[in-house]
This record gives sequence, C-alpha cells and structure tokens, in this order.
Amino acid sequence: MEFHGRAALITGASSGIGAAYAREFAARGADLVLVARSEGAMHRLADELRGTHGRQVHVVPADLAEPGAADRVATRVAALGVDVDVLVNNAGFGMHGDFAAADAGRITEQIQLNCVALVDLTRRFLPAMVARGRGAVVNVASTAAFQPLPHMAVYGATKAFVLSFSEALYAEVKPAGVRVVAICPGATETPFFDVAGEDAAVGKKRTPQQVVATTLAALGRGRPSRVDGLANALLAVATRWAPRRMVIAMAGRLTAPREQPVTTTG
Ligand SMILES: NC(=O)c1ccc[n+]([C@@H]2O[C@H](COP(=O)([O-])OP(=O)(O)OC[C@H]3O[C@@H](n4cnc5c(N)ncnc54)[C@H](OP(=O)(O)O)[C@@H]3O)[C@@H](O)[C@H]2O)c1
Repeated sequence: MEFHGRAALITGASSGIGAAYAREFAARGADLVLVARSEGAMHRLADELRGTHGRQVHVVPADLAEPGAADRVATRVAALGVDVDVLVNNAGFGMHGDFAAADAGRITEQIQLNCVALVDLTRRFLPAMVARGRGAVVNVASTAAFQPLPHMAVYGATKAFVLSFSEALYAEVKPAGVRVVAICPGATETPFFDVAGEDAAVGKKRTPQQVVATTLAALGRGRPSRVDGLANALLAVATRWAPRRMVIAMAGRLTAPREQPVTTTG
C-alpha cells in the first residue's frame, strides 16, 4: 500500500501500538493526524516525526469515550484541510475483573471508546475514501475477539464487535477499492496493562512494531482480518473448532485473577 503523500489519522496515538503506527507511517512518507487525550505525549511524538521525516503532523486532542467525540474530531480535521486516506481506529482499553462488581461508568466508557467511537469515525471518513476509490481503515481488535473472556467480559465483547463489523465492511467497500482490515494482537508490550492489570496478560508479549508489520502485510494482501503472531493465530483457529464450554473454561482459567505473592515481614 502506498503511504507517501497520503494522510493517516491514528487514534490512541499517544502511546503503545498507536505511536508505533505513527512512526512507521511517517517513515513511509505519510502525513499524520494524531488523536488521543494526552496532548503532551502527542506533541512530543509530532515534534520527533516532523524532525526525522519532515512530515506534516497534526495533534487533535480528544476524549473518544465522550458521546459526539468523533464528530468533533471530524470537524477539526476538516478545518485543518486534511483528507484522511488511512484511518486507524486503535484507541481502546480493557478492564479486568468480574462484571457484577465493575463500575458502570467505566463499562460504558469502554463500549463508547472501543465500539461507538470506532464506528462513528469510520462513518465520518469512509464515504470520502469510497468516493476517491482508494483508502484504508485499520481497526485494532484483539485475540480477545475469538472467544468470550470471563473476568474481561465487556472487553472481549467489544473486540468481537470490532472483528465482525470490520469483516462485513471489508466486503462492502472492497469493490470500490477501499481496504478494511481488523488486526488482532495478542498480549503486546504496551502500557495497556497499566489500566487492564497484569492479570489480563496471556502468553508471551509481542512488540507494537510486530503488530504494525502484521498490519502492513495484511493491507498488502488485502486481507479482511489478521491475527498478529503465529502462536496467537493457532490459538484463534483452535477456538473455532473446540467445544464451546471447553473454550470458555480455558479462557476463564487464563484470565482468572492470579494469587497475590505471599509477603512476609520480619
Ligand atoms: N497491548 C495489548 O496486549 C493489546 C492486545 C490486543 C489488543 N490491544 C488493543 O490495542 C489498542 C492499543 O492499545 P495499546 O496496547 O497500544 O495500549 P496503550 O498504550 O494503553 O494505548 C491506548 C491508547 O488509547 C488511547 N485512549 C485511551 N482512552 C482514550 C479515550 N478515552 N479517548 C481517546 N483515546 C484514548 C490512549 O491515549 P490517552 O490515554 O492519551 O487518551 C492510548 O494512546 C487497543 O484498542 C487495545 O485494546 C492491545
């Protein structure tokens, strides 16, 4: 896929996988719009990328968990005069813990950010891509999309939504020359676990750069979705064939709260 001279809007660009997309796309000659809440982190990244690659980098601070945030972002982007060729819906967070005890407001924020903002931003930027006959939407799902996740029930459900939504859109806009891909990382070395907690980490962590490389390969091959990493991909396939109760029980064991180490004093 050609990035040179194109504009990419990346949500969740202040850290982790989003910042890795920003660095790779700028290195390939794309101009960028960075969206997240942490203005300072995005300005530092923008300065770095302007200095290293000489690209135009705009910073649009936004809390995408707020209703109507996508509209405000789209209005700001239009005012900047940027035509978005590549939309990366990457911002997201997960919460570990049992649903019955979870904070209701945080549950809503999770659905709002992981699903509603992703759909709203896609609705705002996809029609122009279709009209131009080119462009791409990258939606960051997760291996959590392939099976229910006890102790992370809402997070798993939001990612199943992202995968299903993206694969359906893929078919709708492929004839118009626009690509849509859902990327499904497994545990990845980012600040994600500062929020979700280390109990949410399953398996050996991969790097954000590996997730970006998987994305570029998937876009190049015109795939509707792609799991990052061979071990993660094998696990995702296995969940499709194993009996459902076994899949749920195994997922529950992997995400169960771990015992705290016993500390002794004196
Ligand atoms: N790390 C993993 O193991 C893993 C595995 C599978 C899937 N994923 C997915 O990968 C994506 C990126 O996560 P990451 O691993 O890179 O974690 P991360 O470093 O914590 O990045 C999350 C990004 O989302 C942004 N964000 C969070 N809440 C926001 C809000 N209300 N409004 C706007 N932006 C918000 C954060 O920026 P601000 O805090 O500045 O707003 C940050 O830039 C997420 O969708 C996550 O579900 C991660």
